[in-house]
Amino acid sequence: MSIDTYIERYMREEYSTITSETEFVGKLLFDNVRGRVLDFGCGPSLLYWAMFMHSAESIDGFDILPENIEYLKRILSQPEKPAIYKKLADRLQNTLLKQNRKDLIKDCFAKINKLRSGDILKRIPFKKGYYDTVTEVGCIGCVNTEAELTKAVSNMRSHLKTGGTAVFVNWTDRKTPIAEEVPQFDGAVPVTKTLFAEAFAKAGFRDIKLAYKKNIPSSEFATILYGTAKKRS
Ligand SMILES: C[S@@+](CC[C@H](N)C(=O)[O-])C[C@H]1O[C@@H](n2cnc3c(N)ncnc32)[C@H](O)[C@@H]1O
Repeated sequence: MSIDTYIERYMREEYSTITSETEFVGKLLFDNVRGRVLDFGCGPSLLYWAMFMHSAESIDGFDILPENIEYLKRILSQPEKPAIYKKLADRLQNTLLKQNRKDLIKDCFAKINKLRSGDILKRIPFKKGYYDTVTEVGCIGCVNTEAELTKAVSNMRSHLKTGGTAVFVNWTDRKTPIAEEVPQFDGAVPVTKTLFAEAFAKAGFRDIKLAYKKNIPSSEFATILYGTAKKRS
């Protein structure tokens, strides 16, 4: 089976409906993302989250899997977008924006700038000290050791301008079903408040705010560890 099949499966399983997880992560992005944005481990799903980045000026993204980047570029080049974006636009207009924005999808997608392959543990092919916001949704939790976590977080910090904000979201105990087939979609590092607070402090971040959004028992959602941190001089 080709990786394209996994991507289709991932998008279908994770992003074909607007769940309460979507609402939660989307609002976090909506409230905290500003200016020039770089998304770490953007997956095939960056366009989905970009819908919530209302105050972004431009959005760059990278992922270790070149196939994810090709998939995003393909959707950007198609005139007809998947139906989920229309649903998201309707929901956003009603809940967060409180205004009718006719060209919302077009405007969001127009913000997408550079999409490239890159590894959070290596030299990243984007400008350092340039971004107002760096985001990651389920990416830094894909590393395997505490040392790798600190390296990934240091890379987030070095791409921010002074005063910039990192916005991060990771799942504590859910194995993405697709990870059985594509190991890059999951990792072995424990996603805990203590470990993440330590990694962000070690990487030189300040004003580190971290919290759990607890799973609702018997729901399909796992607990999320989310937060923001600032790059101070
Ligand atoms: C659980 S998925 C999340 C994708 C996307 N951010 C989302 O919200 O759906 C994790 C993503 O991180 C990427 N990833 C894993 N390890 C990475 C690394 N070392 N460098 C860059 N991307 C990585 C994977 O390829 C995958 O796209």
